[in-house]
Amino acid sequence: MNNKEPHITVSDLTMAYGDFVLMRDLNFTVDRGDIFIVMGGSGCGKSTLMRIMVGLKSPAKGQVFYGNVNFWETSTEQQEKIIQNVGILYQSGALWSSMTLAENIAMPLEQYTDLSPGQIGEIVSLKLSLVGLAGFEEFYPSEISGGMKKRAGLARAMALDPDILFFDEPSAGLDPISARLLDDLILELSESLGATIVVVTHELASIFAIGNNSVFLDVETRTMLASGDPKELVANPPDPKVYRFLTRGEDKEKAN
Ligand SMILES: Nc1ncnc2c1ncn2[C@@H]1O[C@H](COP(=O)(O)OP(=O)(O)O)[C@@H](O)[C@H]1O
Ligand SMILES: [Mg+2]
Repeated sequence: MNNKEPHITVSDLTMAYGDFVLMRDLNFTVDRGDIFIVMGGSGCGKSTLMRIMVGLKSPAKGQVFYGNVNFWETSTEQQEKIIQNVGILYQSGALWSSMTLAENIAMPLEQYTDLSPGQIGEIVSLKLSLVGLAGFEEFYPSEISGGMKKRAGLARAMALDPDILFFDEPSAGLDPISARLLDDLILELSESLGATIVVVTHELASIFAIGNNSVFLDVETRTMLASGDPKELVANPPDPKVYRFLTRGEDKEKAN
């Protein structure tokens, strides 16, 4: 894409739990239509950054802009409007085990829209077919594979037709083939929906297969060391640590 339009801008951000500062001086922009990767080692603060970006945790310092709107300083009404356009797949997956897939996906629609049960049923079936789960409406999470659960989680994240999707470690715990299929699905969704997608991951295969933009968080220096297309970062590494992270060997990758 040549006409880049900022969708989310993170500016001068510090994130902390109480006095424990996780990261400071974060500055990067997610453009509309990006598949943006938040990468870095385990425990560096990727999930926390996602929680701050989606309005679940406030920054210790700095701003998150949606377009021109300063999220943490705007009205509650405006914040709610922004959040309704954000779909999230959490790291834990978190489908309700006592509910069928249809009931899981219907939940946000029942909560946030005035649609009739018939209309909701239609949307549920449409979303399930988008993720390759047509006909699985009445299945319970325990009856399907890990990869299918992730897909159902994606369907639920897309229930309200968000224009931004956040996925936290979507392929964690999946076998390599299911992880590949999930990457393919993310690429397909990006193309067909034109949504902006932010993916938290440390999986090299995913980073290079789907990402066109990224930020690299470094746990030692507690700040970001790079931002940009991962393929360009590995070709012209701005820091040796970024290069090491992006060229980890197969064995090390498996040991992760
Ligand atoms: N609710 C919390 N309260 C205090 N510390 C937390 C909380 N959640 C996470 N942390 C700490 O913050 C650090 C970063 O966590 P997290 O954002 O989950 O990292 P990542 O997703 O990169 O693995 C970890 O050291 C973790 O123990
Ligand atoms: Mg995490």
